[in-house]
Amino acid sequence: MKALITAGGKGTRLRPLTHTQNKHLLPIANKPILHYALEKMVDAGIKEVGIITNQEGDEVKEALGNGEQWGLSIAYIPQEAPLGLAHVVKISQDFIGDDSFIFYLGDNMVVGGLKKFIKAFEEQGSNCHLTLSKVKDPERFGVPELRDNRIISIEEKPSRPKSKFAVTGIYLYDSTIFEAVNNIQPSARGELEISDAHQYLLDHGYSISYSEITGWWKDTGKPEDVLEANRLILEHTAARQNGDIDDKSYVTGNVVVDDGAKIINSVIRGPVIIGKNTIIENSFIGPFTSIGDDCIVRNSEVEFSLVLNSVEILDVGVRIEGSLLGTSARIVSSSGRPQSNRFMVGDQSLIEIA
Ligand code: TTP
Repeated sequence: MKALITAGGKGTRLRPLTHTQNKHLLPIANKPILHYALEKMVDAGIKEVGIITNQEGDEVKEALGNGEQWGLSIAYIPQEAPLGLAHVVKISQDFIGDDSFIFYLGDNMVVGGLKKFIKAFEEQGSNCHLTLSKVKDPERFGVPELRDNRIISIEEKPSRPKSKFAVTGIYLYDSTIFEAVNNIQPSARGELEISDAHQYLLDHGYSISYSEITGWWKDTGKPEDVLEANRLILEHTAARQNGDIDDKSYVTGNVVVDDGAKIINSVIRGPVIIGKNTIIENSFIGPFTSIGDDCIVRNSEVEFSLVLNSVEILDVGVRIEGSLLGTSARIVSSSGRPQSNRFMVGDQSLIEIA
């Protein structure tokens, strides 16, 4: 079995962070999202992985290399434009050949391994195995219609969903999927939709089986999803304190303090991760916060936030909460007159003031 992982698309919902960084490389608990996907492949015993890249694909290639770090062989498959998930499968036919494969959306995060899905797919001998998750807003996803524990139809982003399930970004296929993706037509939004490929399989007598994901599953497309994925991963991260914590600081709960980090006269309430060489001084870091490498937080309070590398938060008088701060961002108190708030904000940034 091979794997196909997406790292293309536009990432518009995560702008401005995605103006300078592919969303699949954004860190969750200080580790790029794509690393979690690759670790899942290793755990499932997969050796050959194809990664779909967009026009700015070099960044992903540079970050992951040829995969030897994970004992994987990685091939990169460029997609000229984001023409849909079925288009991704279509352009990967040469890489997949006659093998079965797992198709994994690189911005999805799921608790637990993939082996159980592979086992269910192989035992049921179906042409396609989908993973379903109960969601509050099925209209945002591909939605299956179920009857007698069988999928009888699938619609993409239906205005009236026929079940409470979303088809998640983990799919298993045999090579009949190529017949489907080569025969469907682009949708009204101009994409080759994976839901249409699934419907093609059903319409042509091929079998689709499914598993329900009962633990958490997250599609990290939006800022709030990234924060939530960060929260969930931090909850399962073991405490490790390699940096220096002085006697005046209180560190409670699951807290990772990485090499070279310094915690000075501060309160850190886990789960929290503090990256390498970061300095936290006279500050409070609250639960579900990841702070990257080489940051400085001084006389400030940060909670339930994701802070990328080399950020400075200095003398900020209000608690920073539910925030995503990109690499080298600076939030500092303004001194001097007139006493006012000053902004130097990049395109498509968002600032919310209490
Ligand atoms: P989406 O999250 O649906 O799209 P996007 O990444 O372009 O983000 P946005 O809607 O915010 O602009 O994509 C799901 C996954 O599939 C993600 O890993 C990107 C990837 N993808 C491709 O690689 N090629 C494509 O043609 C499409 C549509 C998505």
